[in-house]
Amino acid sequence: MKNILITGGAGFIGSHVVRLFVRKYPEYRIVNLDKLTYAGNLANLRDIEHEPNYTFVREDICNYDAILDIMRRHKIDGVIHLAAESHVDRSIKDPFTFARTNVMGTLSLLQAAKTYWNGDWEGKRFYHISTDEVYGALEMTHPEGIPAPFTTKASTGEDHCAYGESFFTEDLKYMPHSPYSASKASSDHFVRAFHDTYGLPTIVTNCSNNYGPYQFPEKLIPLFINNIRHRRPLPVYGKGENVRDWLYVEDHARAIDCIFHHGKEAETYNIGGFNEWKNIDIIKVVIKTVDRLLGRPEGADMDLITYVTDRAGHDMRYAIDSRKLQRELGWEPSLQFEEGIEKTVKWYLDNQEWMDNITSGDYEKYYEEMYKGR
Ligand code: NAD
Ligand code: TYD
Repeated sequence: MKNILITGGAGFIGSHVVRLFVRKYPEYRIVNLDKLTYAGNLANLRDIEHEPNYTFVREDICNYDAILDIMRRHKIDGVIHLAAESHVDRSIKDPFTFARTNVMGTLSLLQAAKTYWNGDWEGKRFYHISTDEVYGALEMTHPEGIPAPFTTKASTGEDHCAYGESFFTEDLKYMPHSPYSASKASSDHFVRAFHDTYGLPTIVTNCSNNYGPYQFPEKLIPLFINNIRHRRPLPVYGKGENVRDWLYVEDHARAIDCIFHHGKEAETYNIGGFNEWKNIDIIKVVIKTVDRLLGRPEGADMDLITYVTDRAGHDMRYAIDSRKLQRELGWEPSLQFEEGIEKTVKWYLDNQEWMDNITSGDYEKYYEEMYKGR
């Protein structure tokens, strides 16, 4: 496979995937297709934008005719589909946009690939990137935490534990709760339907929460790093007890590379690092790290923690079982969580211009609106 279409490559995870593929595979031609919504930012790719094997195309995945034309023009034989609306809070306010992009956009890409490849599936692959949120929420049977039954490099730190006995496995029934996860679940179903009905060579992966450089600062970790830097309140939803399973974004990109090349057609793989954290605990780690790196007394900014009204339908616990991926394809996280958080905080503090460019102007108004009354 030589010509690869990556959608959503100007976003957080997409930019890491584009960078990895452009650098690692100079013999491939990488076409990054992105609409550049509020979340798309070409500054995420400054370091590779002049590489000879990289092309950027500004387009909407919902525009079927344009997508088909791009696939023909660039002789695309592999698609890695990341473009999506990705923020749960926005999906609660504006579910239509999520259905349009995540469902109709994915359908338009599937249909374009099917039409262009026209039954010649040899050497072709349609890889759809999804989320663990499609499985719904897990029970929190052990709020104090129990020793986790499995470990990876991501989860070898001393705080490592699990908050329940159940995990998301690939055979679990979909039970999405938010408009975001419902739209992603629907897109996953369409991808599988295109395999089962037409034979399109598809693959789906469901990953846990990512963290790392270039994440849009509406998501927990970059938002809080920026707020701590400016000594602004940190809006913790509910009691801060919700649990998320965190994976460093470059480890997700490495998993995508591995699965794109070696994953089995029509399979699903869950991607995660067995790295569960309660929000409030991860927030305290972030505060201490920012304080230390800014030369403030460690923990001085704990008073910024502000408990606010909970997110509607807030899923209690996510925890991925990624043993299938480890067993069958040999993928493992490369980074311990403590190293990942340190690298991440340092990156945001060292790249304040990147952050300031985003958080000035319209975003500031959006942010104020989002937290009005909370
Ligand atoms: P993001 O919001 O940072 O980036 C999304 C990108 O898609 C942006 O560049 C945006 O411009 C582009 N886009 C949006 N609508 C588009 C459209 N109609 N046409 C073309 N481009 C469009 O998202 P992310 O966090 O990088 O997530 C990428 C993918 O990974 C998503 O599919 C998401 O569901 C999935 N995922 C994310 C996480 C996470 O923790 N962030 C975890 C698991 C899975
Ligand atoms: P987020 O980064 O939005 O990812 P997701 O909702 O996809 O898991 O949120 C991570 C967790 O942090 C989630 O439980 C909601 C919580 N959260 C807050 O408490 N305050 C905030 O300002 C944000 C953005 C999230």
